[in-house]
Amino acid sequence: MSEQQDLIKKLEVTLSHTDIEVITDSFNEIKELMTFYKCAIMEVETKFKVLNERFKLSIDRNPIDSIHTRLKSLDSIAGKLKRKGLRMTPNTIEQNLSDVAGVRVICSFVDDIYMLADCLVSQDDITLVRVKDYIKNPKDNGYRSLHLIIEVPIFLDTEKRNMKVEVQLRTIAMEFWANLEHQLRYKKNLSLQLLRSTSRELSECARISAALDRRMQDVKNVIDGK
Ligand code: GTP
Ligand code: MG
Repeated sequence: MSEQQDLIKKLEVTLSHTDIEVITDSFNEIKELMTFYKCAIMEVETKFKVLNERFKLSIDRNPIDSIHTRLKSLDSIAGKLKRKGLRMTPNTIEQNLSDVAGVRVICSFVDDIYMLADCLVSQDDITLVRVKDYIKNPKDNGYRSLHLIIEVPIFLDTEKRNMKVEVQLRTIAMEFWANLEHQLRYKKNLSLQLLRSTSRELSECARISAALDRRMQDVKNVIDGK
């Protein structure tokens, strides 16, 4: 089965006949667009790797623990557009989704998150589209991370295109928490009672992890003589 037929088969459950016709029509353009997003991910990942090397020289340590990237799958894209009541075309993807390309940067210390974010957005080819600071303003469930939507140019054979990338910066402790919370979110067949008590427990874990991040930062500041 071709990749296109395979996708249509997967999407048949969620999409209407007209949606599938649109996908069939613009499949090659959508595939091309996905390649552009992949290139944008490579650009942003490289920028963070460069910053990591730079800080290795100037502060003698790597502020980045790890970098994870992901390209949103075509069926997730189709599902998200469908929930917004939109048909799947290259235009609707570019205009309505800002998380097709995702780069997650994990740091040990909170201050490094802001330092790296500042360095990235001050680069002259980067446009900052939106910031959501869930570290200063955590979500009700306790979720913390710094989210940036940026635009980064990619240079193709004959043109330059600005692509949106969602950058999430968080500490190791925030990542640990978010991964567990994500598992709970997708856990079906949990009794309401267990779900409630586990959410409360996770909320307490979020509080403890935020306190840990603050204390680790304080210790680091003492070590650095700040
Ligand atoms: P989406 O439409 O879900 O992408 O969210 P949004 O457009 O409102 O953006 P937001 O910046 O709030 O969240 C984007 C991404 O951050 C999500 O896709 C998740 O990867 C992550 N995220 C946001 N909130 C939570 C949360 O409560 N728990 C976990 N585990 N991840 C979260
Ligand atoms: Mg998302």
